[in-house]
Amino acid sequence: MTSFSRRSFVGTALLAAAACATTVSLAQAPISIKFSHVVAPDTPKGKGALRFKELAEQRTGGRVKVEVYPNSQLYKDKEEMEALQLGSVQMLAPSLAKFGPLGVKDFEVFDLPFLFKDDAAFRSITEGPLGAELFKKLEPKGIKGLAYWDNGFHQMSANKPLHKVDDFRGLKMRIQSSKVLDAEMRALGAIPQVMAFSELYQALQSGVVDGTEGVASNFYTQKVYEVQKYMTISNHGHLAYAVIVNKKFWDGLPADIRAALESAIKDSTTYANAIASTENIQALEKIKASGKTTVYTLTPAETAEWKKALAPVHKEMESRVGKATIDAAYKAASFVTAK
Ligand code: LMR
Repeated sequence: MTSFSRRSFVGTALLAAAACATTVSLAQAPISIKFSHVVAPDTPKGKGALRFKELAEQRTGGRVKVEVYPNSQLYKDKEEMEALQLGSVQMLAPSLAKFGPLGVKDFEVFDLPFLFKDDAAFRSITEGPLGAELFKKLEPKGIKGLAYWDNGFHQMSANKPLHKVDDFRGLKMRIQSSKVLDAEMRALGAIPQVMAFSELYQALQSGVVDGTEGVASNFYTQKVYEVQKYMTISNHGHLAYAVIVNKKFWDGLPADIRAALESAIKDSTTYANAIASTENIQALEKIKASGKTTVYTLTPAETAEWKKALAPVHKEMESRVGKATIDAAYKAASFVTAK
């Protein structure tokens, strides 16, 4: 062998060894899933995300690594949806109110006031054909819906008692980016202000807004109760999430990995839905115990007054949300139209 051919033999052998090492390290590199969300880790959604991480890593034997980023650490509400579409994160669990700006307005059906009499009514939609149909509408946006996570009923808060509809007059109320919620606040005489969840505490503290709607677990973990003197148990709306993934990422996963992740989603969904109600009850107890917020429950007569004021929102939103979607939701939730 000439010195030239010996050199080229050694070179080829080195290249082959390097290629082999790359293949081995590629084969061993875990698939990374970044799961971003806007709430605290110790909430139903935060705990559900952590349960998913645990199950996903366990059931894929470590071939998938899930990094959970709570409290808008990576992105705020609107930005996280864009990040998912771009593939900068693979997984989110935004509230259903946040799909309108994406152009999938049907999701705002879930924001219709007093639509659900209980959690079962909500689940009869998400677990039935309408829930599946709504997920299909996300696919052209590059998003795949995997599960719905429940987080119970919306309450109201402000620095003044909110008992009668008239108490809302002129109040600036923070809402999520849903036109139904916008119409709801206007119907009560308030001025809606769309704002990212991560900005809520500061906005309430500084008086940029006077009040908000929300669930007890978020009021407690975001310390809303420290900057709001009154909370009204009204159960006028409902908060729930869609666990979603970047569709291209999901479809590109090896079939066995996808199956393991599907089973992790299924079980973390059962878990998140099972704890939601208790978590919110416990959070409400802690808010009461803080002594910083007076908690008031609407009387049946007051509830009837709120329902009457909010009933026109259903009709008003038909052209945006779609009559067929609203009718299907009414049917699934056994909703009786308020007259
Ligand atoms: C909100 O913006 O109020 C909610 O979407 C927060 C949440 O629970 O995700």
